[in-house]
Amino acid sequence: MITNRTFTMLKPDSVEKGNIGAILEKINAAGFRIVAMKLTHMTKRDAEAFYAIHNERPFFDELVEYMTRGPIVAAILEKDNAVEDFRALIGATNPEEAAEGTIRKLYAASIGENAVHGSDSNENAAIEGAFHFSGREMF
Ligand code: RTP
Ligand code: MG
Repeated sequence: MITNRTFTMLKPDSVEKGNIGAILEKINAAGFRIVAMKLTHMTKRDAEAFYAIHNERPFFDELVEYMTRGPIVAAILEKDNAVEDFRALIGATNPEEAAEGTIRKLYAASIGENAVHGSDSNENAAIEGAFHFSGREMF
């Protein structure tokens, strides 16, 4: 398994607020290489499948509604220690708890609308990347 890649989504709030460029600057400055990227709009079925691990959680319906309300930017990123380093770059799930300078501290509105996704393991990075991209879309 490739272990130096992670998967991210700039969530609908980031696209709506015009924060795509600023967030990509942070990702670039942190040393990630873009392997794949696209603007896409998840269907309800996509979001329910992508976040299936959370389907028993009280916030699940709200999460699906949020993730499907507009387009996202999906991307695969490459860097040594990508999963862990990207989670550090984005900060805690709740922006109130996110460290200064992290993407969520800078751009997230709340725990529910938190600007970006980052894979939580190498295994999930591979699964999530393959959910959004075919091999021919990865460079
Ligand atoms: P993500 O998967 O999007 O990178 O976020 P995460 O690992 O930091 O957090 P996770 O526990 O996986 O939750 C997934 C997403 O669900 C929404 N959420 N809302 N209202 C709430 O209490 C709540 N908790 C989580 C967030 O959009 C979170 O990123
Ligand atoms: Mg997660």
